[in-house]
Amino acid sequence: MNLDSARLLVVGAGLMGAGIAQVAAQAGHEVALFDTRAGAAEAAKAKLASTLDGLVAKGKLTADAVAATLARITPVAALQPADLVIEAIVEHLDIKRALFAELEALLADDAIIATNTSSISVTALARGMKRPERLVGMHFFNPVPLMKLVEVVSGLGTDPHVAQAIETLAARWGKTPVHTRSTPGFIVNRIARPYYAEALMLLQERAAAPEVIDACLRAAGFRMGPCELMDLIGHDTNFAVTNSVFAANFFDRRFTPSLVQQELVDAGFLGRKSGRGFYRYPEGAPPVPVERFASPTAQRLVVHGQGFVADRFAAAFPQAERQPASDWVGLEADLAQLRLTDGRTAREIAAARELQAPVVVFDLPLGEPSHLAYAKSGDVSNPVAWLAAAGFQPVEMADVPGLIVARTIAMLIDEAADAVQQGVCDEAGADAAMKLGVNYPAGPFEWLGLWGGSAVTALLDRLDAFHRGERYRVSPYLRHTTP
Ligand code: NAI
Repeated sequence: MNLDSARLLVVGAGLMGAGIAQVAAQAGHEVALFDTRAGAAEAAKAKLASTLDGLVAKGKLTADAVAATLARITPVAALQPADLVIEAIVEHLDIKRALFAELEALLADDAIIATNTSSISVTALARGMKRPERLVGMHFFNPVPLMKLVEVVSGLGTDPHVAQAIETLAARWGKTPVHTRSTPGFIVNRIARPYYAEALMLLQERAAAPEVIDACLRAAGFRMGPCELMDLIGHDTNFAVTNSVFAANFFDRRFTPSLVQQELVDAGFLGRKSGRGFYRYPEGAPPVPVERFASPTAQRLVVHGQGFVADRFAAAFPQAERQPASDWVGLEADLAQLRLTDGRTAREIAAARELQAPVVVFDLPLGEPSHLAYAKSGDVSNPVAWLAAAGFQPVEMADVPGLIVARTIAMLIDEAADAVQQGVCDEAGADAAMKLGVNYPAGPFEWLGLWGGSAVTALLDRLDAFHRGERYRVSPYLRHTTP
């Protein structure tokens, strides 16, 4: 099944269809573009022409290449036969099914129909089709010409050769295809849920302000913090996706939507598009105040534990002793302890110590040293100064388990582990999907390799014990299969 010179029909000339037509035409395919809205296909082509002309002016494309690309895109007034149809119409099960019935009446038996649905089950879409084995998901990301990921989605009845042909085609178009089973949210929209959910949970617990959560996750390498990202996506849209993943998983409480977000939607505070969400626009997030510390001193400085966090402290404080066999990671400055969060609160650790000495827990320091959340057991400022001396900008938050980054990353890893356990994708697929589909700085299994399975499991178990619910239960795959 070779689609190298396939004639394409793209149905739906909106945001996604126009981008798909562009990518296909740039790869050399003849593309017919159809939309039920009169003039929409022509308008999409005209808009593409002006975008591509802009790239010629910037010297990124030649005028000849642009002319050839545009010549290959033909707006059409009716559905017509093709080797491959890519459907990018409204996200509605019945309307898509009706389109597939119409298409099957005019396509050859060996034609393939690929759907760009972002949330509807490919298995369900294929029901009632004459040739359900010829339907496959081809889920692009927005903006299509720039985003490398394509999730190739097999429904229960999809012929594996059809999925393989679409993977090969996507790779030929310069994309990175990742294969997935048709499960709610596929890979990216499923594994990404905790990125939003943990921020909303922290807000519900009144643990930190939105700008603090955002600053800490940006410091960990994410391009946008979860609160500013939800403001950008729109709370109505983000809430709808969360609700659909929740319902599609038979109301598994792990995916419970947030009252915090419900209230924003109820108020009409939908984010950037309505001028107000977590933040007001155009101003956006207020700056996070910088705490100033005097240079700390200590008679005795010890770096505890092993791994990248211990190494970072050892590099910052060459004078420190090392105790690699210690059962915690961090810094001991005289009697004070600064510990990498292990899911226990600072108060809990302080209470378990024999000495009445301060304990500070700090967040997982991924990325370049910048904002780093901490919580403390009492009124201690001197120990925190060591975090500043190590190059971080310490930001205080409430003493809740797992702080901000550690808790979010642990939950992303846990969700990815569940996805692998359920055969949705493999580990490499999960990593590629999250890096290329939503620009994560690393994949969940890369973080797991860095941080270690036992540390992640311990943190989640403590969150689970603290909250007592299903939300933080450890994936069996994470507990039993990963090192
Ligand atoms: P859009 O609203 O920009 O475009 C949809 C187009 O389909 C409209 O021009 C509409 O006139 C046309 N249309 C509706 N019913 C039709 C029919 N029966 N036959 C032919 N044309 C019809 O929507 P968008 O954002 O391009 O989304 C399209 C699909 O892509 C949806 O399934 C969506 O879930 C999916 N998707 C969207 C992404 C996004 O970021 N917007 C990302 C990935 C997938």
